[in-house]
Amino acid sequence: MRWPGILEYFAEYLPLTGKTPLITLQEGNTPLIASSSLLKKAGVGGLFFKFEGMNPTGSFKDRGMVVAIAKAKEEGKEVVMCASTGNTSASAAAYARRAGLSCVVLIPQGKIALGKLSQALMHGARVLAVQGNFDQALQVVRFITSHYPVALVNSLNPHRIEGQKTASFEVVEWLGRVPDFLALPVGNAGNITAYWRGFKELFELKKISVLPKMLGFQAAGACPLVLGKPVENPHTVATAIRIGNPASWKGAVAAKEESGGLIDAVTDEEILEAQRMLAEEEGIFVEPASAASVAGVLKKAREGFFRGNEIVVCVLTGHGLKDPDIAVKQCEGRIEEVGASVEEVVRVLGF
Ligand code: F0G
Repeated sequence: MRWPGILEYFAEYLPLTGKTPLITLQEGNTPLIASSSLLKKAGVGGLFFKFEGMNPTGSFKDRGMVVAIAKAKEEGKEVVMCASTGNTSASAAAYARRAGLSCVVLIPQGKIALGKLSQALMHGARVLAVQGNFDQALQVVRFITSHYPVALVNSLNPHRIEGQKTASFEVVEWLGRVPDFLALPVGNAGNITAYWRGFKELFELKKISVLPKMLGFQAAGACPLVLGKPVENPHTVATAIRIGNPASWKGAVAAKEESGGLIDAVTDEEILEAQRMLAEEEGIFVEPASAASVAGVLKKAREGFFRGNEIVVCVLTGHGLKDPDIAVKQCEGRIEEVGASVEEVVRVLGF
């Protein structure tokens, strides 16, 4: 069967009307990959990766963006706008073009991964590099979208959350049960809010009878939810989650408290190590921010947090090709130069 995309497949769970244009790039339906090697390190009963990097623009943002853009189009908007650490801008630019809308993105100057920037540019968005961080860019976007006829497509737009919650439906459907723990990276906190809403909705509809515990992980240099107060100058190698004052702060705290889960921090070293382990041991290439979920689960495992029989799902939010610079930098010195002859290659390989 052809996968119809989020709007059609999950129509009954989404705020659609007869007038909502059913745009799609066939987002959603992403793999839930069973861990082989990292399962042993985590010491749990089952470890699965929800690889959201397999969405059309390479991140989970497409699930919510398709809903937000369809609703903007339905409402007669012509321009959409967002602040972004990169992935939201890539997704907004692609879906805006799909729907025939113009797109303006505000990105923190010099702090966005190359792959994401290339996407926003290629899809024809107006790209404004702001001399400031994401939090400052979002403030500007919030003001402009509430004073001008421009649709806000950050996750403050409730349609974004509605679309993103569908990932939790897929986890339950493909796993055949509710995981004990759902781990994910947290930046602006829209995604943890969305997953929790999705699980709760299934519970209220009596489609599931238990709820998972939510495990959110922030980068140590950008962990306002762990500190309990905004961080003025957030810093981390995981630029996607370099956010000091998450817009969905309350949603994240509710997800943590209602589920009996936690929000913790992982260092840049732990993030990069998890990124390398995913690539080298599991064959899965994710961007640094996405590895925060795995880094967090491994940290908790070291602390003796798990009993040993739990089913854990780690959300891998974005594809590794988003941030080639960090990836190549980590592997510096790995490229071996060799002459263009059989003898040379055989010699170097030691055959
Ligand atoms: N992982 C990736 C790859 C992201 O791009 C983001 C957020 C997150 C995790 C965190 O999700 O914000 O819902 O808590 N990226 C946003 C952006 C901020 O602009 O692309 P969140």
